[in-house]
Amino acid sequence: MSPKSVVLSVFILFLSFGLCFGFYIEDKYNETNYKYYTGPRRLMKQQHEHFMRRTRRSKGRVNVDDYGAIANDGRDDTEAFEKAWNEACSRGYILVVPEKCVYYLKPITFSGPCQPNTAFKVYGTIKAWPHMSAYEKDRRLWIMFDNVLNLVVDGGGIIDGNGWKWWQNSCKVNKSLPCKDAPTAVTFSQCNNLKVVNLNFKNAQQMHVRFQRCFNVTASNLVVTAPGNSPNTDGIHVTETQTMVISNSVIGTGDDCISIVSGSNNIRVTNVICGPGHGISIGSLGAGNSEAEVSDVVVNRAILKGTTNGVRIKTWQGGYGYAKNIKFMNIVMRNVTNPIIIDQNYCDQKEPCPEQESAVQLSNVVYQNIRGTSASEVAIKFECSKTVRCREIYLQDVILTPEDGGDTGTVAACENVVYANRGKLHPQCSFS
Ligand SMILES: *[C@@H]1O[C@H](CO)[C@@H](O)[C@H](O)[C@H]1NC(C)=O
Ligand SMILES: *[C@@H]1O[C@H](CO)[C@@H](O)[C@H](O)[C@H]1NC(C)=O
Ligand SMILES: *[C@@H]1O[C@H](CO)[C@@H](O)[C@H](O)[C@H]1NC(C)=O
Ligand SMILES: *[C@@H]1O[C@H](CO)[C@@H](O)[C@H](O)[C@H]1NC(C)=O
Repeated sequence: MSPKSVVLSVFILFLSFGLCFGFYIEDKYNETNYKYYTGPRRLMKQQHEHFMRRTRRSKGRVNVDDYGAIANDGRDDTEAFEKAWNEACSRGYILVVPEKCVYYLKPITFSGPCQPNTAFKVYGTIKAWPHMSAYEKDRRLWIMFDNVLNLVVDGGGIIDGNGWKWWQNSCKVNKSLPCKDAPTAVTFSQCNNLKVVNLNFKNAQQMHVRFQRCFNVTASNLVVTAPGNSPNTDGIHVTETQTMVISNSVIGTGDDCISIVSGSNNIRVTNVICGPGHGISIGSLGAGNSEAEVSDVVVNRAILKGTTNGVRIKTWQGGYGYAKNIKFMNIVMRNVTNPIIIDQNYCDQKEPCPEQESAVQLSNVVYQNIRGTSASEVAIKFECSKTVRCREIYLQDVILTPEDGGDTGTVAACENVVYANRGKLHPQCSFS
């Protein structure tokens, strides 16, 4: 052996000793112990990082900082998050976004399938990359979780869409601009047995959180906030999703607090505070003559404060299909402009919508124990389709009075609806 190769093999021996020793002591590792090592500084640092990774991994945790993310420097951390996710997903570990740290992300997809127990813990803040040019590939997405089974996303941190620039460039804010897509802050696509709990979402570019084609979802203890005048910033949007609970959440944005659209069924919303915003909506449904199917939705215990709508079902003219078995119960309205509304002539576009023959059929809709105040005179509005009337509409213990306590009172405006009432009902339908 040449002296060179002796040095090399000693070095390799030393290195592997370090690595193996790392395996051995990983559970007992602590900073103080580590100081007793001697050797070249750089090697120590490498070993230190190696130990840190192994200790975190041994607890099944993957910290984004260990993959090159640098907090609070205003730079793009997308690549580090991608690497950290690949590690977490392939081993069934928990990806950790540390507390008091702000990271910037460009559009990113966290794809499955993953090993069981993969989770995503946001203790700190994830902020959207501010330059719109980074979103050209698909303007509808910022963060997406795709096809992950049994995923848990929680941690109490913040996901911030940094949406000001998108709002300024919205055709709803600046009428001279063309209407273009803007990203949903977080999209969960095809995630079964999903839990999204204890998180703050704010200032999304457009919608805050979208659940699409998911099954068995819990979304709870969420706080969603954006200015009341921010365009299309729905709080929680549910599409083609079955079996879901949305609970114990506070949502105030510039659009629907919750919107539930076609392909969704067995959706339970409980203990939600909404406002500002456009209220809790089923729809819009049937846009562009499309088919809609929504059934078995219960909204129980909600407070709506200063919203433009309370509980709303909205459909475009010309669609088909149904929305049925829907129950709104135990709801408090505070100064809501349209507390109870069915709008089958919904038209959210620049051009007027022409009259059409078909419509989504609404049936078996129950309003029970709904009380409070209306900001407008029309507290109940059933504007049902001329061609497909609303059937089986039930009202029980519904009392809506004027916010200003004025002597004009409230009225109900009803068209093409068959309804029955029990208990107290005020105001009562006057048919136009
Ligand atoms: C770390 O090791 C030192 C020295 O062995 C020991 O005194 C100390 O209690 C240990 N700390 C923890 C947190 O285990
Ligand atoms: C609206 O957009 C046009 C075209 O980009 C721009 O010139 C104008 O300053 C914008 N208006 C406002 C109020 O931002
Ligand atoms: C729904 O998901 C939860 C985990 O979030 C799981 O414990 C439960 O078994 C799932 N239920 C069904 C019917 O798959
Ligand atoms: C009630 O709502 C109306 C319309 O949104 C608003 O102008 C008014 O200031 C509100 N009143 C109170 C007491 O908040």
